[in-house]
Formats: sequence, C-alpha cells, structure tokens
Amino acid sequence: MRKRIIAGNWKMYKTMEEAKQFVTEVNERLPQSEQVDAVVCPPSLYLAALQSMTEGRSLQIGAQTMHDVAEGAFTGEVSPKMLSALHIPYVILGHSERRQYFNETDETVNKKVLAAFANQLTPIVCVGESLAEREAEKTVETVALQVQKAFEGVTAEQAKNAIIAYEPIWAIGTGKTATAEDANIVCEAIRVEIDHLYDEQTAAAIRIQYGGSVKPGNLGELLSMEHIDGALVGGASLEADSFVKMIEVAS
Ligand code: G3P
Repeated sequence: MRKRIIAGNWKMYKTMEEAKQFVTEVNERLPQSEQVDAVVCPPSLYLAALQSMTEGRSLQIGAQTMHDVAEGAFTGEVSPKMLSALHIPYVILGHSERRQYFNETDETVNKKVLAAFANQLTPIVCVGESLAEREAEKTVETVALQVQKAFEGVTAEQAKNAIIAYEPIWAIGTGKTATAEDANIVCEAIRVEIDHLYDEQTAAAIRIQYGGSVKPGNLGELLSMEHIDGALVGGASLEADSFVKMIEVAS
C-alpha cells in the first residue's frame, strides 16, 4: 500500500505573514492521518520559519527547487546542504516553470535528483508533456524519456523513496484537468518505465502524483485511479480551507 501524498506548491505567492497564518490554521485543523502525507512548499525565504512552526505536527514543509552543489559562488541559490540542515524533507525538482523560465534541462534535473538523495531529501520529480506533444501523440514517449533521464545513476533503493509528479503542462493553472482516466494512463506508463529501469518492487513502491488544476472537487476521482497516489497542487493549495479539504478527501 502506497501512502498518499498531497503537496501544495505555492510558487511565488504569499507574504511571510500570510504564510504563517496558513500554517497556524492548518496546524489547528489538520487531521492526524496515517494515510496521507500533507506537504506545503513555500518560497525558500519562508522555509526556516515554517519548518519550525510545523515541528511535531502533521503538516510537512518542502522546497520548490534547489541548486545541485553543497555550497559555492552561486548568487541567489539555495543548496541541498542548506535544506538538509533545516531538516526539510521534500524538494520539488524540474517543475515545468523551472524548465521553461530558468533553463532547467533533463541533465540539470538529474544532477539535482542525485544531490537530493545525497542529502537525505526526497525529490518530487516533475515530468509532463506540452500541448503540442500531446496533440502529436507523444505524451508517453516524452514523459518516459524525462523519467529515464531524471533517474540516471539513481539506485533502486533511492528510487523507491522518490516521488514523481506527472503534470501535463497544458493543465497547469489553466482550469483544464486531464481526465482521471487519461492521467492514470500516463501515471501507469511512468510506473512501467520505472519497472524497465529497475524492477517490479521499485515500480510498485514509487509514489506518483498528478498535478494540473487539482482542487477539492476533482481530487477524489483522481485518487480513485490505481496509479495516482496523490497530487501536486498549485492554486488550490493557497487557501488553508481548500488545502485541509484536500487532505480530508485523501484520508
Ligand atoms: O506544481 C503544481 C502546479 O504546477 C499545478 O498548478 O495551479 O494548476 O494546480 P495548478
């Protein structure tokens, strides 16, 4: 049985005050649940403060990105060593916005995935096709290649603990969600790719999220699918109320 994981990706939203209000409210309302990991990924500026507010609570904190080296002259960057020293458990890697606006490639994503494991961080590795790739019926091919490249050099033991987020680019922030069946087909293809790269046990253990216009109203159907173990949520994770509702749906 794979434990479900609902992760909120706040992107570049919220002031520190708003972020703290969210965590205070969610700490009060979040049910203790064995069935679901509840995570929010705030801007890096707030990681330390929110991590200390959630110590010993159900809500967990993740980062939205990081560099791949421990330290160095890289103005503006946050390193895996820094996240690990704060005991941040998760880091989102290779989000399509990072690939599109910050020149991240399959190669840089792979370096970051390896760095995450080397620093006891669980990567949430994002993959997904563009609208043009979907229309050209290249969805599975595109996503399988992204997975293959992201996991180069990753051991089976590490891969078992990784999370893959399937986010079709055309469904992000657009209100268009892939149908649950379509999302499940691609998530299954990702599991098959992990089976090819590793083995059946690793494929059965790895958790796969769907992301793209997820909200409390469509989450239940997505989670009813065999290969969807959770969601990576943008817009609908910004309000405490809708975030708690999604945890309830997943519990
Ligand atoms: O990483 C989550 C994301 O890209 C989906 O965003 O706003 O469509 O839920 P949204």
